[in-house]
Amino acid sequence: MSGKKAKMIVEKDFKVSEVDKRIYGSFVEHLGRAVYGGIYEPGHPEADENGFRKDVIELVKELNVPLVRYPGGNFVSGYNWEDGVGPKADRPRRLELAWRTIETNELGTNEFVDWAKLVNAEVNMAVNLGTRGIDDARNLLEYCNHPSGTYYSDLRISHGYKEPHKIKTWCLGNEMDGPWQIGHKTAHEYGRLANETAKVMKLVDPSIELVACGSSNRSMPTFADWEATVLDHTYENVEFISLHQYYGNRANDVANYLALSLEMDDFIKSVISIADYIKAKKHSKKTINLSFDEWNVWYHSNDADRKIDPWTIAPPQLEDIYNFEDALLVGSMLITLLKHADRVKIACMAQLVNVIAPIMTETGGPAWKQTIFYPYMHASVYGRGVVLNPIVSSPKYDSKDFTDVPVLDTTAVYNEEKEELTIFAVNRDLEDSLLLESDIRNFEGYKVVEHIVLENNELKQVNTAKEQAVVPHSRGDATNDNGIVTASLPKLSWNVIRLKK
Ligand code: AHR
Repeated sequence: MSGKKAKMIVEKDFKVSEVDKRIYGSFVEHLGRAVYGGIYEPGHPEADENGFRKDVIELVKELNVPLVRYPGGNFVSGYNWEDGVGPKADRPRRLELAWRTIETNELGTNEFVDWAKLVNAEVNMAVNLGTRGIDDARNLLEYCNHPSGTYYSDLRISHGYKEPHKIKTWCLGNEMDGPWQIGHKTAHEYGRLANETAKVMKLVDPSIELVACGSSNRSMPTFADWEATVLDHTYENVEFISLHQYYGNRANDVANYLALSLEMDDFIKSVISIADYIKAKKHSKKTINLSFDEWNVWYHSNDADRKIDPWTIAPPQLEDIYNFEDALLVGSMLITLLKHADRVKIACMAQLVNVIAPIMTETGGPAWKQTIFYPYMHASVYGRGVVLNPIVSSPKYDSKDFTDVPVLDTTAVYNEEKEELTIFAVNRDLEDSLLLESDIRNFEGYKVVEHIVLENNELKQVNTAKEQAVVPHSRGDATNDNGIVTASLPKLSWNVIRLKK
């Protein structure tokens, strides 16, 4: 046992906010094998009568994913949604220019809504503001949400969908600040278009919520100015500004890699400040929230992707195989999102199946869980309720890009209805376990029901279709003695300490 210790005080009344369940959202793009060979594979032994893989559905249900963003991503900026509705035999094959593949359009809007229902998730639909604009956005919205008696709502009905889909959250394009984006725009161009599209979409259905595109990541040269300009244009007509961020351990510096959630934290704080600056500038009473609608680790597959030939159907693109250290960073990214639950109301792990995903499949073969599946599942299942703001004191370390990195990364979620308190904690220490003492005296009568630990001797250990080498166990040693919960957190570990009255 090491001499390292950390302490925290968890108080019922120190509240950050109620968790919006959409913070545990995910993302399915028409990219690689996310759709074809991922959620949809007619002919697979596990396929249902509509071609949806039941083994994948079961894994998605385990994750308890409440919201799935669709259909892109970069894909949406060249997508004609009309190609994917109506009789399948009439649907065109298209050159898909974002990822340079062939899109068969075998699966489109209605089938995706059907699939989302099977996994109990809402759809977060993106409209194309790359090659298209206001007209197509309003038509798609009319097709999806208008009950009947108009051209597009009746078209939906003629396609076999009598009831409207009632899609509530909509993204106004994707990463429009990125030069790689089809129809890339300046902040002024995008801000104007997004605002006019938002106005018209809300005329069609005033109950929807809209997400304006923020920067593609914090390193974009236009970051901050982009958010300010876009919000200046759109403030009164949107509810959210988006954030996207992916990390990787390219330098193989674990201490630095695990500290990257501090950068995510800083990114979130910056976007909140920008949104609130525009609020002040406009003397507005309205507060814009954050939709962190793409976040994850993404780097393992970069080299392999450069070797993929163009114009094939569903090639194995962005198939990162995640290792144990990635699961730790994903755990810290989830904790970071929770810490900002007062402003981050939507977040989507990008993505869900095969493409930088917690779930992998073999075409024609099994589906299996990547290492990052576990922290995502734990947070989504146990992290519902009110996020608390514990007072934490932890040893710290310095890394290449960060100073004063807390060895302990933690937060707590209180579910009053279920009388459950859950502490999520990452021990970032490379050498030593950490003795954590949590004062929860305010939670009288609460007992430890489980201390889940994800640990492994090999940082680079991965899971495969054949072997689940990185799996959590429930042999953690947390105990509660008169309101002081003591737990030793193994070196480099993800911990979930579950207490119940
Ligand atoms: O999630 C993969 C890609 O990453 C998305 O298509 C795009 O929005 C982002 O750059």
